[in-house]
Amino acid sequence: MSNTLPPLPYGYDALEPYISQEIMVLHHTKHHQTYVNALNAAEAAYAKASTPKERIALQAALKFNGGGHINHSLFWKNLAPSAAASKGNGGVLRDGPLKTAIEQSFGSLDALKKEFNATTAGIQGSGWGWLGVNPSTKRLEITTTPNQDPLLSHVPIIGVDIWEHAFYLQYKNVKVDYLAAIWNVINFEEAESRYTEAVGSSKL
Ligand SMILES: [Fe+2]
Repeated sequence: MSNTLPPLPYGYDALEPYISQEIMVLHHTKHHQTYVNALNAAEAAYAKASTPKERIALQAALKFNGGGHINHSLFWKNLAPSAAASKGNGGVLRDGPLKTAIEQSFGSLDALKKEFNATTAGIQGSGWGWLGVNPSTKRLEITTTPNQDPLLSHVPIIGVDIWEHAFYLQYKNVKVDYLAAIWNVINFEEAESRYTEAVGSSKL
């Protein structure tokens, strides 16, 4: 039952200059670790709870910290060192099933970015922006969730952390600059493997 902080699949400075080392260290070792610790505490308390009232009282903590752990675990794999910085393949969408699906749903990758950034820039307070597969239509759609709510309505393909802790140290209050920069470090190879698994599985 004990949840643990997953290691990053790259170094803390690997996403520079788009996401600074300072942000990555704090985000991973402090913020994500805190969700893991609080989730473990809530799960332990739930296991000891002996009445429905006690279990109901723990629902908010389980949702918030469990969602925080799920979302951040997905987010780290969602990112990769940037091709634009000659560090990796981040930001590169190759020909394949994901590119085809993006073009079917949005027209182009640039159109997807524009719609995604406009939608997520409109999140009030903290939350997450998502590219997900709609289980009913099997098409890619953009959606958001508040706080640390995990994406349940769609199968997540790309998730972007829109909490201020994800960008404030580098981008201050200019969320749109963070949203513009993050596409340089999106791991489209990971996104495509999620997409092909989603459309080929019983999740849809
Ligand atoms: Fe975060």
